[in-house]
Parts: sequence; structure tokens; C-alpha cells
Amino acid sequence: MTVKKMVEGIHWVGANHLDRRLFDELIPLPEGTSYNAYLVQGSQNTALIDSVLPSKKDELMKNLDELGVKKIDYVVANHAEQDHSGSIPFVLQRFPECKVVCNAMCKQMLVDFMAIPEDRFLIVTDRQTLSLGDKTLEFVFVPWVHWPETMFTFVREDNVLFTCDFLGSHSGVTELFAKDDVKTMEAAKRYYAEIMMPFRQLISRHLQTIAQINPRIVATSHGPAYDNPGWITNAYDDWVNKAPKNEAVIAYVSMYGSTAKAVERLANSLFKQGVVVKQFNLTKTDLGELAIALVDAGTIVLATPTVLGGPHPSAAHAAIVVNALKPKARFVSIICAYEWGGKTVDVLKSLLPQLKAELLEPVSIKGAPTEKDFQAIDGLAQKIVGKHLENAFK
Ligand code: FEO
Repeated sequence: MTVKKMVEGIHWVGANHLDRRLFDELIPLPEGTSYNAYLVQGSQNTALIDSVLPSKKDELMKNLDELGVKKIDYVVANHAEQDHSGSIPFVLQRFPECKVVCNAMCKQMLVDFMAIPEDRFLIVTDRQTLSLGDKTLEFVFVPWVHWPETMFTFVREDNVLFTCDFLGSHSGVTELFAKDDVKTMEAAKRYYAEIMMPFRQLISRHLQTIAQINPRIVATSHGPAYDNPGWITNAYDDWVNKAPKNEAVIAYVSMYGSTAKAVERLANSLFKQGVVVKQFNLTKTDLGELAIALVDAGTIVLATPTVLGGPHPSAAHAAIVVNALKPKARFVSIICAYEWGGKTVDVLKSLLPQLKAELLEPVSIKGAPTEKDFQAIDGLAQKIVGKHLENAFK
């Protein structure tokens, strides 16, 4: 059996994708991922919560066969993204009486993406309930985790909350419930950093919603479920709501070593003064590792040589990623190496409009860094240390 029983009448019937190595053609998946679908069987009706990536539909169908499922009345779409909704048309084809339960915005997206006929939908409103007999589904709208149509589904009698992408992790479901260990936390933090961090303020409210519901089990749509939800919601509270830490991220690229020397000097100077330094060579780094470091950083420094009058494309890419992820860092700076001019600092600044961070005076270095340049780097380090102290970053 590949299905997994969560509680009486609720089973995991999703699919693992353990050898997938890239999501959205962008996000590295060191552990692969899973697409979690759950079958909720009430005394009268049966609901499927979400589906799976279309290429994994046969695994979903096989899991339903293993449970001997003859009828599905509802397929709930908590989220329209196709890693969860993409197999809904196959579910509708196999179960002709089945309706898609979702909110109005999600319905429009499903119609746009998959041309699902209008008469197959049952549209719900926030906090509406749907009885399955001895189990009741309650729908809780939580926009922007990480699309605008997202909602949770709560099974009242079992106190199980299905949160779609929220609180998930890109890892396989080899065990149904998450372990309270460093590896699991790292996967969850990576997922938060890459997917949820840009929506920090909104998801802070959704954490409060979960606290009010106080579920016994949180079941996400990627990675293992939580039978101790406080473990992950406390971690999110720290990442989302707490002040940045006394940490600096230095993301750099260097062609002939000038930028690397400046970065080494900055890293050592910060290290000596007690700042935790997370340093990334952008030509080699895993984007997810950089994203994880951005979660807690008080300061971000981008360092680059000048190429064709602007930043090295790897540095420009990093700036675009930082800008999109909107980390809570309060300070940012730039180190630029050049020989005959260019607009590197201005271009990088222009790529960071969403970062609500104070720009600390950038350092520009002509040729290889001289003693005067190293002093300027030390000055930048001093400024970072002072700002972190002033703001009581710990
Ligand atoms: Fe896992 Fe937003 O889809």
C-alpha cells in the first residue's frame, strides 16, 4: 500500500516526486518533492482535497484503487497552481458526479488553465461549510499563500487543517508526519524562503488564523504533515515576525580576484566584530541556500565586478531574486570593482526597489583593492556593526 492513513476516514493519496531537481525551472529541489492529495471519507460523501501534478495522475488513481474508492463527490481545490490542480480534469472524468469545490477566484483560474466546464463547480465563500455526513469541511480563505485564491480546508470533527502550500516543504512523504529535527526544519525554512517570504505581512495574519483554529494536525500540499503544528508555526513566527538577526549575507561574483579580496576583507572584519557572515559565490551557490540565509539577515551586501558597464549578470540575477523575495533585512550595500567606469552601483540599486532597507554607502574599487580601499571596506563593516548594535539585532 502506498496510501497512508492519517486518522479514521482520512488518507494521504498523493504522489512523491523524489528525483525532481528543479521547481518552476528555478528552485533547486535537493530532496525532490511531493504533491499531497488527501481523501476524506464521511458517512455520506467523499471529498478529495487537492490533486497532483498531471504527470503523476496515475499514482493518484492507483492510490484511490487501493482504497477501493467507487465514488468521489467533491474535489476541493485549495489552490489553482497546477502541481495541485492539474489532475482535477482526470478526477472529473473518472467520477462523473464529482464537483470541484473552490472559491470564485480559484474557479476562474481553473477555467483559464484547464477549461473545466462551468457546471462542474460548487463555489464556496469564506467559512462556508460542506457536510460529508459525519465529517464537516469548513473553508477558510487565506489569500496570498502564495497566490491570491488560496484557501484552507478544515475537517472540524477530526481537527485536521489542510493548508495547501502554506507551511509545506519540498521533500517527499516517505513518512506521513514530520520529524522534529534539523533536516526537516531546513527543508521547511528553504520552502518558506523561496515561496512564502515575499508575503510575510499577509501570512503573519494567517498564522493567527491557524492559532485560532488550533488544529491537531496540519496537512500541507508538499512534504510531510505536522502532528505537532506548534513546531512549524513557532518557526514561522520567528521567520515572519521577529527582528532580523546579527547576520550579514555577502553575495558576490569575482572575475580576476579584486572583488573576492574585498569580500574577504569585509567578511573577516565583520566576523572579528561578532557579526555572523554568510558568504555566497554566486557562480556556484544553490539559490535556495542563498534564500535561506536571507530569512534572518540584518544586512545584505552584493559585490560584483563591472562587466560591459554594469554589474556581472550573476550579481544582477541575485539582485532580482533578493528584490522578489523581499527579505526583512534592514540594511543593504554594494561593493563594485571597475577599471574604466560604468554604472554598476546605480544599476544594482535600481534592481532593488522592493527592498525596504537603508542603503549603506557603497564601496567602489578601481583595479585591485589598495590599502585605502581596504580601509573603506573596514568602514563599511564598522557601519554594519553599528547599525546592528543600534537595532539590537541578536
Ligand atoms: Fe505547490 Fe503553489 O503550488
